[in-house]
Amino acid sequence: MTKDAFRLISPSGKETELPVRSGTTGPDVIDVGKLYREQGVFTYDPGFVSTGSCESDITYIDGETGILMYRGYPVEQLAEHSNFLEVSYLLLHGELPTAAELERFDHTIRTHTMLNEGMLNFFKGFRYDAHPMAMLSAVVGSMSAYYHDTLDASDPAHRDIFAHRILAKLPTIAAAAYKLNIGQPFMYPRNDLDYTENFLQMLFSVPAEPYEIDPVAAEAIDLLFILHADHEQNCSTSTVRMAGSSGANPYSAIAAGISALWGPAHGGANEAVLTMLAEIGDKSQISKYVAKAKDRDDPFRLMGFGHRVYKNFDPRATIIREMCHKVLKQLGRDDSPLFELALELEEMALKDEYFIEKKLYPNVDFYSGIIYRALGIPTSMFTVMFALGRSVGWTAHWREMISDPTGRIARPRQLYQGPAQRDYVAIDKR
Ligand code: ACO
Repeated sequence: MTKDAFRLISPSGKETELPVRSGTTGPDVIDVGKLYREQGVFTYDPGFVSTGSCESDITYIDGETGILMYRGYPVEQLAEHSNFLEVSYLLLHGELPTAAELERFDHTIRTHTMLNEGMLNFFKGFRYDAHPMAMLSAVVGSMSAYYHDTLDASDPAHRDIFAHRILAKLPTIAAAAYKLNIGQPFMYPRNDLDYTENFLQMLFSVPAEPYEIDPVAAEAIDLLFILHADHEQNCSTSTVRMAGSSGANPYSAIAAGISALWGPAHGGANEAVLTMLAEIGDKSQISKYVAKAKDRDDPFRLMGFGHRVYKNFDPRATIIREMCHKVLKQLGRDDSPLFELALELEEMALKDEYFIEKKLYPNVDFYSGIIYRALGIPTSMFTVMFALGRSVGWTAHWREMISDPTGRIARPRQLYQGPAQRDYVAIDKR
């Protein structure tokens, strides 16, 4: 929908009308597409603080009121009533599935979880202590070498096959990376188990004895996957869209997204939270670390606090905090010193003027690591867990981007601050 235009008048008086567009909900956008052509200037917005990069129908966030919706459904409702596979269908297809559609989707995912045996050889080549995120991005990147017969992005059937492969095979790749790290044999997927149960058995079972899946663990992981499934144009998703906009194959685009997610300012924060809590060590040290976080000359930040979009609360953190209590209680670890330390740190930071003024609240990563830790998932796998949930969001965005007939290669402009033109100086004259 278009609305009244914004009028931009240059210092020399040249006027340009910039159309304003409205979405279903949320702030309007000013379409600056013709600005350079008409006025000869670019807009400048490092970090995309005020800039929308695309149109999207997938996810909506209102950071001021703490709203997150997938395809219009509030995440709280999905967390309570749905499961990760159904949410995946919703994100990929736009609507909740009927019972028959869900059964078909579930069957497709369950029966595509095995890897080409050749891909397992990759794991023999990695060092035993390689970070699982490094292995995840490398092996996902390699998928285009195995599935090059279905890489035609203009073919909807190929796009479906790609989505199914990513969703079905990522847990298998992640579990293989973990097994390499701990020196245990790789466990093949089992089609009789549901998505999350199958992942847990690949992670924790061994051929030597039967493995019983803890329903609390399966419920908690499924919830975490739902809460991480999508978050509109975040850093890794924008990376997937940008890499994919060149026409690069989708496996490479997802591998790029995994790499972007790894950073500590993004998905790597869940790992960083646990490292930080270990460093703080004791409740008596909290005030010292809060002071460090407030000190502009100290690079230390409270990991798991703050968000570019949420300036009130992160709705995912509220749900995860509750699940964290539930998991620790059911596992008999609700007196865990780590959890108590996290609770006290949260309480102290939330009362502190600095955090109140800058609207810094716990984000999705603050409690997720404590749940993972309680379930026996090692710290180095935390960001991998995030990637497993987010992979469906990346896939949905890639599909949306590639199906958009008006889509163009993503190519930002810049404000050049380097030397002006100068002449080459011969080496003996420098
Ligand atoms: N601890 C202390 N101070 C902080 C923190 C923090 N965790 N986060 C932001 N601030 C301060 C900044 O120093 C800045 O202060 P200033 O105005 O005096 O310069 C102000 O709050 C605004 O912060 P920015 O970094 O400018 O905000 P931005 O939107 O660019 O960054 C980010 C958001 C990256 C999430 C940041 O809050 C951060 O680094 N948090 C810790 C890492 C983390 O938890 N990341 C996970 C994010 S959620 C996710 O990706 C799933």
